[in-house]
Amino acid sequence: MCGIVGYTGNKPAQEIVIDSLKKLEYRGYDSSGIALHEGEIVFSKKEGPIANLESVLDSSNSKMAIAHTRWATHGVPSDVNSHPHLSNDGKIAVVHNGTIDNYLDIKSSLENEGFNFLSESDTEVIPNLLSKYYEGDLVKAVSKILDEIEGIYTIAAIHVDNPEQIVSVRNETPLVIGLGNEENYVASDIYAILKYTQQIIYPDDHQIVSVSPKDVKVLDQNLNEVKFEVETVEKYTEVAEKGGFEHFMLKEIFEQPKALQDSQTELFVNSPLDNLDLNWKIGSISVVACGTSYHAGLVGKYVIEQLTAIPVSVHYASEFRYAAPVQGVGGLMSSRPLVILISQSGETADTLAAARAAKQQGCHTVAICNVPGSRITREVDGVIITKSGQEIGVAATKTFLTQMQALYALAMHLAFQSGSIDHVMLKNWENELRGIPSKITQLLNSSESIKELVPHISKAKSTFFIGRNINYPLALEGALKLKEISYIHAEGYPAGELKHGPLALLSSDTPVIAIAIQDHTYSKLISNIEEISARSAPVITVAQKGDKQALRVSDHGFELPEVDPVLSPFLVAVFVQLLSYYVAHDLGKSIDKPRNLAKSVTVE
Ligand code: G6P
Repeated sequence: MCGIVGYTGNKPAQEIVIDSLKKLEYRGYDSSGIALHEGEIVFSKKEGPIANLESVLDSSNSKMAIAHTRWATHGVPSDVNSHPHLSNDGKIAVVHNGTIDNYLDIKSSLENEGFNFLSESDTEVIPNLLSKYYEGDLVKAVSKILDEIEGIYTIAAIHVDNPEQIVSVRNETPLVIGLGNEENYVASDIYAILKYTQQIIYPDDHQIVSVSPKDVKVLDQNLNEVKFEVETVEKYTEVAEKGGFEHFMLKEIFEQPKALQDSQTELFVNSPLDNLDLNWKIGSISVVACGTSYHAGLVGKYVIEQLTAIPVSVHYASEFRYAAPVQGVGGLMSSRPLVILISQSGETADTLAAARAAKQQGCHTVAICNVPGSRITREVDGVIITKSGQEIGVAATKTFLTQMQALYALAMHLAFQSGSIDHVMLKNWENELRGIPSKITQLLNSSESIKELVPHISKAKSTFFIGRNINYPLALEGALKLKEISYIHAEGYPAGELKHGPLALLSSDTPVIAIAIQDHTYSKLISNIEEISARSAPVITVAQKGDKQALRVSDHGFELPEVDPVLSPFLVAVFVQLLSYYVAHDLGKSIDKPRNLAKSVTVE
């Protein structure tokens, strides 16, 4: 989704913001643009990759710049709809992430006042409103428009009158200010500027930030200066290279053993779970997330319920935020409910809104997140950080595994605390988890054989993934991975539900990927495979090592390394990731940046 970077300092700004903007490419975008101060505001914007923008840039001595990657919401991807947008007089340039919900009303009243609009973008009202209110002070003008614009936004604006000042403000979408030595940075994503600084300010909603090379001021909407904290954040290892892999996604799949191990050190050595204050009798748990994180939550439900007997409900954040489901349970809160928010980025708009809704209802909120300092980590009561490292591929892989692991650890922690498992069992579980990375390495070593399954899927128009019990969420995740990156229609189903509808769709050109794990639902799943085969649909089964029965009833198969059924989701996940990857690769799709998708969905 959209990204913002800004620089004001003593160096040529264009180079710095373009370099920073490239760090945001992983988020997904369709066009990019830049505004510079060269005595007048100079700007360029281009549809397509940042390389298109670079190809039209002249060299520049401007020491201040704002730049943007756009992911279209209002108006098709095009040069004219890209950011920056300028005021009619060309004196103000604005880049914006988010959406202005009442832009049509503002636009028509500005048109009545004589303003013209060039684009279909909602953003174009902002520079013109600023220009209407500007009386020599851009900060004041920004404070005035905040009463008029409705929506969610991060805005960075510059005015020709001041060659050093960037003014920025946010509402519900991320904004960070990076501090340097006589140079400062503005960004919507910390990854954009970590190369340059680790000294970060996180402004709150509606705080207006004036950034100049030697000075950063944070003001409330009444223009009173407010104190701010500067946090020193960990320097991320930069992920610029694919390290010999053809795609970031493949690299990230192969990084999973390390991601799990690094996260284990965090979980079992640094012990963040001890600081979560979960020491009351928890009556119920709601898990809330989007996309792949939601599927991790579904796996977590099985583990938490199995180990603790605490009922867990799992919700899509986009539904939870409007449904108030926690208080709805019996109308009474007998004990404080726990709400677990899962978000690798920590900035998904719906998950953030759900966290706020949960807090408003008096719930205790805990986030599982891969980005320290991200918005969600700042809003919840407790945080478990996963240590996957930066994930560039739009389709989540390594963050999924570390989210699941965090939920297993949480389940173990709650079970130990409530006395349902003792210290010995706790250590056994921990040891089992510690064994998973090496099993994944074994699986990765046999990944070539997954390629042999590709021809059975890549020509299909439609596919099904089926699983039961703790592997039902993996059927959902497998289907999501395949559709995201190969664009083949795929549905994940609990195997027992096939006969209630989907069987009608099965035929010899509808492959079904079955997850057959030897838990208490195994024999039922084998029957489901036979029902599918009886309808001539080809079945590709992923089964545990040595499971001859599952392979005998299927047309094709893949054997996982030996694994306890309750831990099998970690290995099944790697299998469905690789299968999807190889199918998408065979079809020549844009694997790291699938069409229409974004890594972080910061709008509703
Ligand atoms: C987008 C990404 C998915 C991700 C989802 C939730 O849809 O493409 O890969 O699972 O957002 O993101 P989050 O950062 O909240 O985990």
